[in-house]
Amino acid sequence: MRDTFALTTVVLLLVSVALAQSPGETVFTQHCVACHGSDLAGHTAFGRKANIPDLRASVVQSRSDNDLIASIGRGEGHKEYPHGFLSRGLSIVQIKTLITYIRSMSTVTAPVKK
Ligand code: HEC
Repeated sequence: MRDTFALTTVVLLLVSVALAQSPGETVFTQHCVACHGSDLAGHTAFGRKANIPDLRASVVQSRSDNDLIASIGRGEGHKEYPHGFLSRGLSIVQIKTLITYIRSMSTVTAPVKK
């Protein structure tokens, strides 16, 4: 009986760890959260100074995946902070998982173009 309980506890723990973070969220936590904040709203010290947009809002969500890849991966259109993470250690697969994560956090209710 005690063994069953211990095993169940271990299984539940593993499941909760696996569910806790998507791959995109993990990359986001490592490379983006310092400025964009864990809720993606950009209410960080640097965010307030540099006027970071809310990544959940339509200003970002309405942009196509290719646009966001160009923005995050190659830094296109940035003035305040040189994104361009493709030449700073992230792969295209990681950039795409980031975009999936950013879209999963969207607060936009109207359909967005992809
Ligand atoms: C050092 C702070 C900082 C870090 C780290 C950072 N950003 Fe940003 N981000 C900014 C600022 C400032 C802006 C406002 C636009 C600019 O750069 O001029 C921005 C804007 C953006 C935008 C909107 C750009 C647009 O073209 O509309 C996206 C999307 C974005 N960041 C994604 C990311 C992702 C994903 C990461 C992590 C891989 C990241 N950022 C890391 C500071 C940062």
